[in-house]
Amino acid sequence: MTFVQGRRVGRLATVGEGGIPSVVPICYAVIHYDGEPVVVSALDEKPKHVPLRDLARVRNILRRPKVSMVVDDYHEDWRALTFTRLSGKAEIIEPDHGLHAVGITALRAKYPQYERMAINAAPLIAIRQLRATSWHGGKTGPSPVEPFAQPGATELAALVRGRRSVRSFQSRSVPRNIIEQAIAAAGWAPSPHGRQPWRFAVIEAPERRASLAAAMAESWQTQLELDGQTPEIVRVRLDKSRQRLRDAPILIVPCLYLAELDHYPDPARQEAERIMAIQSLGAAIQNLLLSIHAAGLDAGWMCAPLFCPELVRDELGLEAALIPHALIPVGYAAKDPARRGRLPLASLIVNWE
Ligand SMILES: Cc1cc2nc3c(=O)[nH]c(=O)nc-3n(C[C@H](O)[C@H](O)[C@H](O)COP(=O)(O)O)c2cc1C
Repeated sequence: MTFVQGRRVGRLATVGEGGIPSVVPICYAVIHYDGEPVVVSALDEKPKHVPLRDLARVRNILRRPKVSMVVDDYHEDWRALTFTRLSGKAEIIEPDHGLHAVGITALRAKYPQYERMAINAAPLIAIRQLRATSWHGGKTGPSPVEPFAQPGATELAALVRGRRSVRSFQSRSVPRNIIEQAIAAAGWAPSPHGRQPWRFAVIEAPERRASLAAAMAESWQTQLELDGQTPEIVRVRLDKSRQRLRDAPILIVPCLYLAELDHYPDPARQEAERIMAIQSLGAAIQNLLLSIHAAGLDAGWMCAPLFCPELVRDELGLEAALIPHALIPVGYAAKDPARRGRLPLASLIVNWE
């Protein structure tokens, strides 16, 4: 499957009405889902004159799901000619299916053009139960379709790179199970002594979000004025912040919870214990963000509660041992954010002996 994953275009053959074969070039990605490799291909918005569900390939798949696909490399030196033919069962996968989000992430990671296209809102084609035949340099024969050497490695890389901080959201509601799964994923983060020194508050009710936004804005206003910001800047920044909290259908407040950590007689070790808990909270939040992204949604990270933890705790009616550390708005992105570049690997590794 490495050969298939590495090519850019495949030729998908379906059977049309009256048994007439139909072949189209497709962009595709290979994902690992439910313990098997799956080929996914988007029904995208490239100029087409028919609704997506009326595309010949979609109608053909719905009628006769058995399909074939060829991926090949042509060389003038025919000893280097290579192709793989896959056959399998195709399905049309709707956006609410778990496979859909994984497929969209893999397609966007492989083809950056998809980042700007709303392929997440359309169904996609998934080809499962794959069987492969490969031909290389004059040798042909069936080749077993192996799972990836490291199952999930491709998806993980795509998820890590694809996660982004979104700052404006649609008002569309978020299924509860996605939030529960994300918090469960946070729970698998490494933590000092395995004590999991963090908890999560979820705020969904619109009036609760508005009330938290108003309370935090008041506290932030005082701080901005202390900084000497002009009234106009204060107004614009507060409006933006309030809007983000009101528009996102879900807010998650990750809190530090130190009550079950070790206690030391000396301040240095006590402080190290607290820092370890904060490091662990960061790892838990990253798990949460990746899980949300894997489900096809987006999130942001606001540090505001760090500057008024008591206010947020009181507003949410949380117990005194919880220290709000961040605010994570979750939802469907209203627009794609500009991404920041990253340091090259050579700058990240400062020493390797
Ligand atoms: C501890 C922490 C605090 C952050 N606080 C804010 C914030 O208050 N407001 C905001 O818009 N983004 C905040 N961010 C998000 C960063 O701006 C963002 O991660 C960074 O610009 C990289 O962009 P990306 O997340 O899209 O890759 C915070 C991130 C971290 C890790």
